[in-house]
Amino acid sequence: MEKSYLLAIESSCDDTSAAVLMHDRVRSNVTASQKIHQQYGGVVPELASRAHQQNIVPVVHQALAQANIDKKQLSAIAFTRGPGLLGSLLVGTSFAKSLALGLDIPLIEVNHMQAHILAHFIEDQKQEKPNFPFLALTISGGHTQIVLVKDYFEMEVLGETLDDAVGEAFDKSAKLLGLPYPGGPLIDQLAQQGNPDAFPFPKPKVEGLNFSFSGLKTSILYFLQKQSDAFVEEHKADICASIQKTIIGILMDKLHLAVKKTGVKEVAIGGGVAANSGIRSALELAKQKHHWKVHIPPFSYCTDNAAMIGIVGYLKQKKAFSPPQIPKPKPGIKSVKPNATLLQA
Ligand code: KG4
Ligand code: ZN
Repeated sequence: MEKSYLLAIESSCDDTSAAVLMHDRVRSNVTASQKIHQQYGGVVPELASRAHQQNIVPVVHQALAQANIDKKQLSAIAFTRGPGLLGSLLVGTSFAKSLALGLDIPLIEVNHMQAHILAHFIEDQKQEKPNFPFLALTISGGHTQIVLVKDYFEMEVLGETLDDAVGEAFDKSAKLLGLPYPGGPLIDQLAQQGNPDAFPFPKPKVEGLNFSFSGLKTSILYFLQKQSDAFVEEHKADICASIQKTIIGILMDKLHLAVKKTGVKEVAIGGGVAANSGIRSALELAKQKHHWKVHIPPFSYCTDNAAMIGIVGYLKQKKAFSPPQIPKPKPGIKSVKPNATLLQA
């Protein structure tokens, strides 16, 4: 097969990322994270787009250099069309459009959420790819979704958050405890030395497969307001372990329900929160106890990155050049009423 190089660009939030793929293999995946937001305790959209403007050219240069190719060898450019912060998306979109126009090569738009799911199809010898149909749990600072993935481009959103994303729940709880942003990894670290049953927090009662995390944040706030600073300091590890147990419990309850409703026992996770030790052990347990098949991609493909945008670009190109397939009925999937939002292919 003739070598074909695709450049991918991701700029939907606070990471400027560029990757070069040769077919489904990643040749480079360069990400510039923006430290500026740490002092504000969350992403400031205007500062994010300004930082993307500064980062985009050096990041693309580095991705091409690491892949050891010249831009003239590119055969297509894929970019994140959305969802994301408007100003941030505009930087990646206008850069990708101008470069594609200048090089006279095709431009492929990619849905960010679909990319988190299809990141599992990046060729990596250490990872087994999921089989269709499977359930994807996408958990990050910006999103929380359970998706039934029937094929590369046939997906149904079965449930999503009604308010905060799960990463936000971690980060906001951490902020209440006086931890720096992003606090998710710090809660995880502290939780490992604490007792998860020390302070039970209530789980929200949300029908079906949707999630809600804002009530948990409020109950943590009320709990902390009743304690002295010395108590909180002394019991920080126990509080973190209890918060983590509650959040992971919410995710796992919904995942069990999704497995029950669909009959699909293959689960793939993605997004920054996939790094959490609690979700990893809970999935390991489900694998052993309930015989689920579980897929966790390498961390560099879990967080926002351009390689995942590249794999969707590659799969879209492949689909465009393949003869149309006659759809086969898929046995074993029970019908579930999907949420109104369908991922755009
Ligand atoms: O995917 P990501 O890099 O960016 C987006 O939000 O799209 O995810 C970042 C989120 C942050 O909320 C961060 O606190 C959370 O992932 N996170 C974690 C852990 N590592 C990252 N949350 C809990 N435990 C972790 N180990
Ligand atoms: Zn994301």
